[in-house]
Amino acid sequence: MEKAQLYQEVLNELSEFFSHYQNLSDIAIMTTISSVIHMKFPQLVFVGFYITREANAVKYLEVGPYQGKVLACAKIDIGNGVCGTSAQRKQTIVVEDVNRFETYIACDCASKSEIVVPVLHNDEVTSVLDIDSDVLGYFTEVDKEWLERIISSFLTN
Ligand code: SME
Repeated sequence: MEKAQLYQEVLNELSEFFSHYQNLSDIAIMTTISSVIHMKFPQLVFVGFYITREANAVKYLEVGPYQGKVLACAKIDIGNGVCGTSAQRKQTIVVEDVNRFETYIACDCASKSEIVVPVLHNDEVTSVLDIDSDVLGYFTEVDKEWLERIISSFLTN
């Protein structure tokens, strides 16, 4: 089945699921999104969120709900790794080969390519969606478009 079709199923399943609930917390929404995406694509080794936190007036990313086989690192500085770079630039980042991304942070050695999509509220990055694949060059514009659509449908206001 084509990727676009699978993403359409993800969007439909999430819409249907969330229609049964009112006022779900962001954590519940992030958990459900991670789970549905992870179940749909066997090529994904990690699907999860990092949430923006602040300590002593310095922002950083802290691990949030995720699906994967290894423990994800718990803290990432803004500007570091693919996640921190996406949070800093407020842009989706597609990495064809993680070994070629200068500040890449390795959590799972099975990971070969990665996409990170920022979640914005009032132009502030409140979290990022991080997805890793064990296939080199797995992510394309198709993933970027659909994931941004999923995020804007359920997590941004
Ligand atoms: N690779 C990420 C770190 C998080 S793990 O992939 C779960 C990065 O470079 O930001």
